[in-house]
Amino acid sequence: MTKAIILSGGWGTRLRPLTCTIPKTLIPIVNKPVIERQMLLLKSVGVKEIVLAVSVMDGVIKSYFKEGEKLGIKIYYTIEKHPKGTAGALKLAESYLKDDNFFMLNGDVVLNYNMGEMLKFHSKNKGIGTIAGKVVDDPSRYGVLIVNDETHQLLEFLEKNEYSPPNGKVVPMPINAGVYILEPEVFSYIEANKKVSIEREVFPKIVKEKNLYYYPISGIWKDIGNPYDLLQANILMMNDLINSLDGNTKNLVDHSVNIHPSSEIHPPCVIGENVVIHGDCKIGPNVVIGDNVLVENKTSISNCLIYNGVYISNNAKIEKAIIADNCNIRENVVIEGNNENLVILASYVEVLKNLKIIAPKTISLTVCHHEVVKESMK
Ligand code: GDD
Ligand code: MG
Repeated sequence: MTKAIILSGGWGTRLRPLTCTIPKTLIPIVNKPVIERQMLLLKSVGVKEIVLAVSVMDGVIKSYFKEGEKLGIKIYYTIEKHPKGTAGALKLAESYLKDDNFFMLNGDVVLNYNMGEMLKFHSKNKGIGTIAGKVVDDPSRYGVLIVNDETHQLLEFLEKNEYSPPNGKVVPMPINAGVYILEPEVFSYIEANKKVSIEREVFPKIVKEKNLYYYPISGIWKDIGNPYDLLQANILMMNDLINSLDGNTKNLVDHSVNIHPSSEIHPPCVIGENVVIHGDCKIGPNVVIGDNVLVENKTSISNCLIYNGVYISNNAKIEKAIIADNCNIRENVVIEGNNENLVILASYVEVLKNLKIIAPKTISLTVCHHEVVKESMK
């Protein structure tokens, strides 16, 4: 096994407006695109060649990764003019993947677990496929796996909306984590030149033949389906990165960063290159700041993602928010999300001074890119 395919062609509608300017799979997870993190993990278990199945904003993905020179992985692309579905996309890559088993990943899941162990498990069971799964409290947004605990065989694969909990009561269930190991035989289950879903049309057939297995992930896993998940995925990955270092490191701060001694950084935080933080600021907990960000005096930021090139003026208060690249936030601005509802500023938004942007109790509040916010929003 030396090859993998990563699905990178969906629209990412639930992450708009962030995905209006950047494909979902290039969204940063602790300052690196989600699929770049996946590729590095695959490389660590011996994968040398990866097919990126692209469609929406394919040019942006290609110009970021090129042929994989920077990562030391050979990258190929299959391009769908219109998305062909998860199995349709796989079928297009048949000529690259027909000789040996391979990993297949949904390009919007944040991962860190022992993929080498999963490969051993797959080789031992000799199925056509092994699906990585994770037990989650509310399985309703995912494909649900009904498993024989003794043989690890899948008894049923129920894609979103096909599963109803017994007596209507939601209970934790293993769900499809969007990571598979597949044998080339899988191609014979997919009709060419058609839009086909692997979850709805292919897995159920292989399950009937008792040839699909379940591998439980113990480690980091999170789908970045919506903005709150995206924040949580960053926090998970940030803690994972910090925990992998020596016990004294509580924040990951680039050596080029300039923080005034009167400012406090409450862990965990990650701060990227060339960031300047002036005096009496409170940053953290749970803050990821990208590169080239300037934060002026007396500003506080917690539970936030701040992308590259953002400017934040004096005395701002930002909590539970995602601030995309190159936003400009003037003095005395308050930006406040609550519980699972964040405030999301798309790239190049400008917020004029003294304004408040507060997410309502039940829904996230988003501002589209290049907008100038001139009055408070709720
Ligand atoms: N190339 C290509 N073409 N990629 C696609 C297409 C397509 O037509 N459709 C979706 N993708 C990619 C998306 O970019 C994403 O990386 C991945 O496939 C999964 O698509 P989502 O639209 O994010 O699906 P989901 O999150 O609702 O459900 C899937 O993932 C869950 C785990 O996160 C399913 O596989 C569920 O069963 C699973 O539980
Ligand atoms: Mg998804």
